[in-house]
Amino acid sequence: MAILICGGAGYIGSHTVRLLVESGEDVIIADNLSTGHRSAINPAVKFYDCDIRDKIALQKIFAENKIEAVFHFAAFIEAGESVVLPLKYFSNNVVGMEILLEAMTEAGVDKIIFSSSAAVYGEPEKIPVDELAAKNPVNPYGDSKFIMEIMMRRVSAAHGVRFVSLRYFNACGAIEDASIGEDHHPESHLIPLILQVPLGKREHITIFGDDYPTDDGTCIRDYIHVLDLAAAHQNALNYLRNGGESDFFNLGNGQGFSVKEIISTAGKVTAQKIKTVIGARRAGDPARLIASSDKARKILGWQPRFDDIEKIISTAWKWHSTHPNGFND
Ligand code: UFG
Repeated sequence: MAILICGGAGYIGSHTVRLLVESGEDVIIADNLSTGHRSAINPAVKFYDCDIRDKIALQKIFAENKIEAVFHFAAFIEAGESVVLPLKYFSNNVVGMEILLEAMTEAGVDKIIFSSSAAVYGEPEKIPVDELAAKNPVNPYGDSKFIMEIMMRRVSAAHGVRFVSLRYFNACGAIEDASIGEDHHPESHLIPLILQVPLGKREHITIFGDDYPTDDGTCIRDYIHVLDLAAAHQNALNYLRNGGESDFFNLGNGQGFSVKEIISTAGKVTAQKIKTVIGARRAGDPARLIASSDKARKILGWQPRFDDIEKIISTAWKWHSTHPNGFND
């Protein structure tokens, strides 16, 4: 039986496809290529150019293939954009999930692994953040992920679809051979933006606020390598295969780095001085986000392989320096 990867041409989806293929799984990708890249699609894999809101297209995939489980990466991810265009997020993310769950339940597919986000917590009161922390999203992107989690929980109770919801903290890095990597348009994530400076594509990196209540005044995040996220999906699949109950898990390294620390590590990795400019705070940025992933370690048996920030940024640099314009499609 096959695993259907919705959003398998995207950043985290394509890395997960790679791991699954390498471990001998039968994989199928559905992606509408709105943010994914055709050249990120693993050539060993059957590909459907399809929007998850297109129920007929999903029904065709479920009819033509024996699908054991769905991995759902197909969502928009820009928190800032979601404030300006909330309906874009409610349509693709929330409506997309609704149609996907409808098609799954009709086809009798009973396992789903979902890309959730630390954004469901908003500005957490306690660090590190565990799964029981209050869910107070501060933007429509976070709302959409939280609503999608609720939908899975309710559908699970009513129709027996079991789910694992993986709440990623700050995804980063690339596969070590640099054959795939991060390529968003426009880019808004810190590490790829910093690396545009040594690439000569950007004159400086703007630090969004240096007056936060942290040691150096800049925001602290928990950076987790994309391959560790991909591996967590494999663990989650095995967990569901072994009869595990529907559940939510945080995925992070449990270590926080400030924006200034990331810039200085990127300077070391690239052996270049990275020019910085202090800018205003970006709306909705929590001062500090660090995961407690004890639950994923204990229940899923997940152990991040990349726990060194310099090594993580090196993998990103290998990708960006060999693909300065990303995938070119
Ligand atoms: N930052 C800068 N300058 C930049 C870009 C980012 O200083 O040019 C700072 C941000 O203010 C933040 C940190 O770098 O403090 C990390 O920013 P990112 O945009 O890379 O990541 P976020 O922490 O904002 O977002 C991540 C995920 C989102 C998710 C969010 C949950 O990428 O998908 O965590 O809060 F919604």
